[in-house]
Amino acid sequence: MLLYSYAKLNLYLDILGKRKDGYHNLTTIFERISLCDRITLKPRRDKKIKITVDSPLVPAGRTNLAYRAAALLEDTFKTKRGLDIKISKRIPVGSGMGGGSSNAACVLLGLNELWGLRLSRSKLLRLAGKLGADVPFFILGTPFARGRSRGDRVSPLAGLKKVRLWHVLVVPKIPVSTPSVYKKWDEMTQKVRLTRPDYDVKLLTLALEKKDFSLIGKALFNCLERVSIRLYPEILRVREKLERLGFKSVLMSGSGPAVFGIVSSKKEALSLIRQLKGNRHWQVFLTRTV
Ligand code: C5P
Repeated sequence: MLLYSYAKLNLYLDILGKRKDGYHNLTTIFERISLCDRITLKPRRDKKIKITVDSPLVPAGRTNLAYRAAALLEDTFKTKRGLDIKISKRIPVGSGMGGGSSNAACVLLGLNELWGLRLSRSKLLRLAGKLGADVPFFILGTPFARGRSRGDRVSPLAGLKKVRLWHVLVVPKIPVSTPSVYKKWDEMTQKVRLTRPDYDVKLLTLALEKKDFSLIGKALFNCLERVSIRLYPEILRVREKLERLGFKSVLMSGSGPAVFGIVSSKKEALSLIRQLKGNRHWQVFLTRTV
């Protein structure tokens, strides 16, 4: 079974506060994009779960989220089926685009079919939430969704079903630790919050629906951006470069370091991308909503 495991971008991300379990309550807008890993699942006779990944940056054992997704299903159904998981990586690792989470969601969806488990969407969403805060979004299978709680309570944004955006994506080759970004946010943030996330999210959703690129540029927001920039100044250099080239809508995704610019057409994206080539410390991609 061959599966396409898509990446995500966060077009909006605001933290509402810290929770007792160490996570943070947040409100976010997810977008699924065409950049993807390829995953093949094959039954194994010896009833073991084996995983191979073509990138040395990804753990290829029990700590891999895709392995844990398969193990979680075996535990839940008290069976041992055996499985070969092969992952061909394209999504940069630890980039803020949910590559590992997407792989885990793909394995849950794939095994639901391969093993004939007939799990409902809501059961799959619950299992996904056990694996990580970003995993449930990839179960939904919609281009845009709102995320609440840890980001794991997701609902599709039906008004955006037909919206397709083009992006130029720049990922500096620096390893970013998500927990340390959230920790720094705790240190840097004052107790009083002046933002109104519900209003902001509505505004951005409306801007996306109408494809009002100037409003999109103003409404994009990620509260972790200034935190990650403080820890990893290279992210600011990417941002400034994109702005100098004329991108109007620029934002960091998740906890970074991926930074994207939204453009109105593929043609515009291609002409801008040409001017970003040549820096071997940055990976550059052309992507669109899927
Ligand atoms: O759920 P996931 O493993 O992707 O989260 C990675 C880390 O990001 C968590 O261990 C936590 O430090 C931080 N996080 C958070 N609040 C969220 C999501 C992630 O504090 N809502």
